[in-house]
Amino acid sequence: MGADKDHDWMGRALELARRAWGQTHPNPMVGALIVEDGEVVAEGWHARDGGPHAERVALAKLGRPPRPGATLVVTLEPCSTPGRTGACCDAILAAGGITRVVIGATDPNPAHAGRGVEVLRAAGIEVVAGVRAAECAELNLIFNHWITLGRPLVAGKIATTRDGFSRPPPGADRWITGAAARENVHRWRRLFPAIAVGAGTVRADDPALTRRWRDEDGAEREDCGWRFVFDATLATAAGPETAWRRVYADRWRERTIVVTSAAADAATRARLEAAGVRVWAQETTRGAAGWGEFTRRCAAERISGVYVEGGAELLADARAAGALDYAFWYRAPKVGGEGWGGRVDWRFADGAVIERLGEDELTRGPLL
Ligand SMILES: NC(=O)c1ccc[n+]([C@@H]2O[C@H](COP(=O)([O-])OP(=O)(O)OC[C@H]3O[C@@H](n4cnc5c(N)ncnc54)[C@H](OP(=O)(O)O)[C@@H]3O)[C@@H](O)[C@H]2O)c1
Repeated sequence: MGADKDHDWMGRALELARRAWGQTHPNPMVGALIVEDGEVVAEGWHARDGGPHAERVALAKLGRPPRPGATLVVTLEPCSTPGRTGACCDAILAAGGITRVVIGATDPNPAHAGRGVEVLRAAGIEVVAGVRAAECAELNLIFNHWITLGRPLVAGKIATTRDGFSRPPPGADRWITGAAARENVHRWRRLFPAIAVGAGTVRADDPALTRRWRDEDGAEREDCGWRFVFDATLATAAGPETAWRRVYADRWRERTIVVTSAAADAATRARLEAAGVRVWAQETTRGAAGWGEFTRRCAAERISGVYVEGGAELLADARAAGALDYAFWYRAPKVGGEGWGGRVDWRFADGAVIERLGEDELTRGPLL
């Protein structure tokens, strides 16, 4: 069977995996398909945490044992331990018929990496591993971090002028980048289980922090992940409830968590909680101690990734604390000038991805 075919089938398996974009946390996105006599006869993907794995979905869709000589193509090494849904290696062997398995990425968990391949090979199956491995691994950048380190991937996002300014002068248009870049931000928002912003951004912009996108049929869609507001003094919730910012008052308010200091005003905190907003009171919200406590708490709640959308002050603190694992920097062609602020100057490690989005450019990857 040709490498070209494997490459194409893996491309299709990647498409299937992406159907669950942002829906599987803290599990990975995985796509799988079964090929008989060169034809794809069944497809599957992992749709949600706790649901059946992609290989099992594809086998179930087939609805009969695969024909002898069938190939299974899967974006992630099949699991070899029972977990909650049974080991996929066992399911592949029990189904019979499959004599060849094509794998994208190996299991990122060092305790399991390569074990699935071994189990399959020991059972006499031909295994081709590492097909489009980089794409398959990149698909699960949040899961890979979570499963190896046991804490969320904290990713910073900023949109700036060409010379790095993120805060427009008062009264100026708040949008720095164009429509394509903003749509791209929503795509990444949808991937991350949580978004975080600083108190300055809530005060200045009153952002909705929901995810908005268009379905394949063009219908407008909106949903909401966790929304963190870093506000050590609860100043963003001062004043009467009727004047509250959207994140405390809209229909998603139970998805808002304010990260504040233990010394913050108790009455304001009680009013927020009475409205359904959650409050995490920490010793401090700043520096390594603040981010350490925050990420530990996220881990305890199985929040595997946080997309920190700014502003520059919050991102600067996260960066200084060594808390930024990944970064998204959208740059517009315009230059800043009189009245602009919030300058960032991020340097990316080798291998950063650069994408053109209309007139703007996105660089993403880990920072130096
Ligand atoms: N271009 C972009 O991508 C982008 C993105 C977001 C915002 N913006 C713009 O940036 C401006 C707001 O940004 P900003 O830099 O002024 O404010 P910010 O970063 O949104 O918020 C800073 C405030 O958050 C609170 N905070 C709590 N914990 C913190 C921590 N660990 N580190 C830093 N701050 C913490 C602080 O207030 P307390 O000490 O009182 O808690 C601080 O004053 C707005 O104009 C907004 O439109 C631009």
